[in-house]
Amino acid sequence: MEKYQLHPLISREEIESIVERLADQISKDYRGKELILICILKGAFMFLSDLIRHLRIPVKIDFVRLSSYGSQMRSSGQVEITKDIEVSIEGKEVLIIEDIIDSGHTLKFLKDRLSLSRPNSVKVCALLDKKARREVSIEPDYLGKAIEDVFVVGYGIDVEECYRHLPEIYYVTPIHP
Ligand code: IMP
Ligand code: MG
Repeated sequence: MEKYQLHPLISREEIESIVERLADQISKDYRGKELILICILKGAFMFLSDLIRHLRIPVKIDFVRLSSYGSQMRSSGQVEITKDIEVSIEGKEVLIIEDIIDSGHTLKFLKDRLSLSRPNSVKVCALLDKKARREVSIEPDYLGKAIEDVFVVGYGIDVEECYRHLPEIYYVTPIHP
């Protein structure tokens, strides 16, 4: 039984133009520098893989997996690393690749933690931003699109591990039986 109804929010074409614009900006800003992209699993994997194919500069990539206690649709302030990065970021330019910024707790935690390894810079590239829900002060340096306070799925993003495979982005509403 499906628990959620899906409503189209961002088309494939719009995602593609967002990704191209971001890749273009990043390629210009980091030309001649040693850039490491750190992708937050699992939600940002599709965004990262599309983004790097449009970059015109060499980069290295790595992954982190973070867990935050709380319910499925709301993260708590307590974040933990369940898979850490494996490359050295000391003295390097780091760009965190995130699917959605919501309360901001996840990114704030990761940014602070990565800074302990003394990279030259740590910036954030987020596909989506729900600014209305921010609880800690953090802003993306590169943003795909600001969205309203809706719960989204598709293009790598899930609800209860479902819908990550969809090439478009949808918002969900619960179906009450
Ligand atoms: P934050 O710590 O509250 O900013 O939460 C960010 C994380 O919550 C993201 O990395 C997503 O994994 C998840 N998240 C926030 N909003 C949504 C959503 O609308 N759909 C699916 N996951 C979401
Ligand atoms: Mg998630």
